[in-house]
Amino acid sequence: MTITETAATASTRVPTRRTVLMCRPEHFTVSYRINPWMHPEDPTDTSLAVRQWELLHRAYLDLGFDVRLIDPAEGLPDMVYAANGGFVLDGIAYGARFQYPERGPEGPAYLDWFAANGFEVREPVSVNEGEGDFLLVGDRILAGTGFRSDAASHDELRAIYRREVVTLRLVDPSFYHLDTALAVLDPGLSGGDENIAYLPKAFAPESLAWLQRTYPDAILVNDDDAAVLGLNSFSDGYNVVIASRATDFERQLRARGYNPIGVDLSELLLGGGGVKCCTLELRS
Ligand code: ARG
Repeated sequence: MTITETAATASTRVPTRRTVLMCRPEHFTVSYRINPWMHPEDPTDTSLAVRQWELLHRAYLDLGFDVRLIDPAEGLPDMVYAANGGFVLDGIAYGARFQYPERGPEGPAYLDWFAANGFEVREPVSVNEGEGDFLLVGDRILAGTGFRSDAASHDELRAIYRREVVTLRLVDPSFYHLDTALAVLDPGLSGGDENIAYLPKAFAPESLAWLQRTYPDAILVNDDDAAVLGLNSFSDGYNVVIASRATDFERQLRARGYNPIGVDLSELLLGGGGVKCCTLELRS
């Protein structure tokens, strides 16, 4: 991209106000291990997790987002990762069905919240971990599989939302959910370009080839930024809330005309999650 093109794109970036669901990490800890980031033998600090989460919550309020909250449940330490609670589009919430029994009860808890808050709900048949693996880009849903969500859940998505659903195969256990390996920067909703960022090594060869073909201008992040879950970020089309330690990603975002906003969620990283994991977008 030339400098003139970059400036032109930058001036057209338009933030759109998002509605998101979050869950305060009042019961956060690491008491089991279902991803390589989790070390139950190491101590965690729940009050620090809450303080860090509150900064993310504050950042969203400052951006003008409508932030809804679901009550955290005791005994569900991973419930803070709201992205896994379901997938919501067109006012329809497709519920989550978790791969590991430790998180199982979160599925119905989130589904009840959706029903009580005016969403049409769809009970899941296949294993799927919601927006952790399903990302909307323009009118297309990118759907991860390989570690958590079963590819059969992608068929459920197709049937419910009548959109194109593209299956992407994840191969690196550290990047086990699609939202740890790929970020949607501009879903194209504000009339801007559809833009993404991703970590090439997280994808199987055929999935990587599809990404390269489909999004030739995507931002590629380096291993250091990936190692702090830098891709696990949330964009409103202009402002991109990212891990504050993802400094090269921050630089690349700025060069493309985005406004990166760093937040430190080091404590929640101990559970294998970051900014995006704590955020479920509610699309009416
Ligand atoms: N400990 C949680 C798990 O392994 C972390 C979930 C992170 N969420 C996400 N959307 N990537 O399931």
